[in-house]
Amino acid sequence: METLSTIAAARRRREADRREGRTVAFVPTMGFLHEGHLALVRRARKLGEAVWVSIFVNPTQFGPGEDFERYPRDLERDAALLEVEGVDVLFAPTVEEMYPTKPVVQVGFSGLDAVLCGASRPGHFAGVGLVVARLFNIVEPHVAVFGQKDAQQALLIRRLVEDLSFPVRIEVAPTVREPDGLAMSSRNAYLSPEERAAAPVLYRALRAARAAILAGERDPLAVEALLRGRVESEPLARLDYAACVDRQSLKRPERIDGPVLLALAAHLGSTRLIDNIPVDPPLEASP
Ligand code: PAF
Repeated sequence: METLSTIAAARRRREADRREGRTVAFVPTMGFLHEGHLALVRRARKLGEAVWVSIFVNPTQFGPGEDFERYPRDLERDAALLEVEGVDVLFAPTVEEMYPTKPVVQVGFSGLDAVLCGASRPGHFAGVGLVVARLFNIVEPHVAVFGQKDAQQALLIRRLVEDLSFPVRIEVAPTVREPDGLAMSSRNAYLSPEERAAAPVLYRALRAARAAILAGERDPLAVEALLRGRVESEPLARLDYAACVDRQSLKRPERIDGPVLLALAAHLGSTRLIDNIPVDPPLEASP
């Protein structure tokens, strides 16, 4: 595996891949890798001849008072894990390399970035959009793999690629969970043992809401109330949002009669966790 920290070196390596006719599959990450990331890397391995992974804790997607400084980092361990997965290139630039000057271009998503996670993290998706666009222009991948755990991010990146004609295909891989259902996340490392024990409440709430839809519930407000009730029954959890929304518009439908996304965010102590599941309600029998 080649580890590169400058944009110039990445472009040189990318040129070699192009000359030798290798397709590139790319997994952008912020590091502190877990099985969820490795599942994305394995998916990328199947999709491209050269697998590129980036590790960059992107300051522009963290708000003031968020966890940019304390976000867990361990480049050496991450590099060893990626080596085992047969990754070809690890691109790990510094903040100065990625942002030599303060960017003036802003990426906006016309409100799709102001709901769900965007409502409690203003500016977050603008930061994600900017860094992903920049990474795509450096790596020029044929395909890029993102996780379903960040469902809103995956949707916005699809829109970014579509609206700006990036020649890259976006693949979204399923959420990888711990045996008790907790979605894998680098931020799980922040949880105290008590918070860790309480954290699967998010997935249990999502499953209960999905079961209600599959059993015939069609009122999104009732589904959201169910989600809220389940999370709030856990004393250590403080709900941020509980949503039952259309998968494309991220708006709550009048009635659940098509595919929806059930999405949750909650704080456990000082750690904010998110999770979601897509649900396809069974088609109603025609009268
Ligand atoms: O999902 C993440 O880890 C980040 O938001 C991403 C896509 C690497 C951009 O910094």
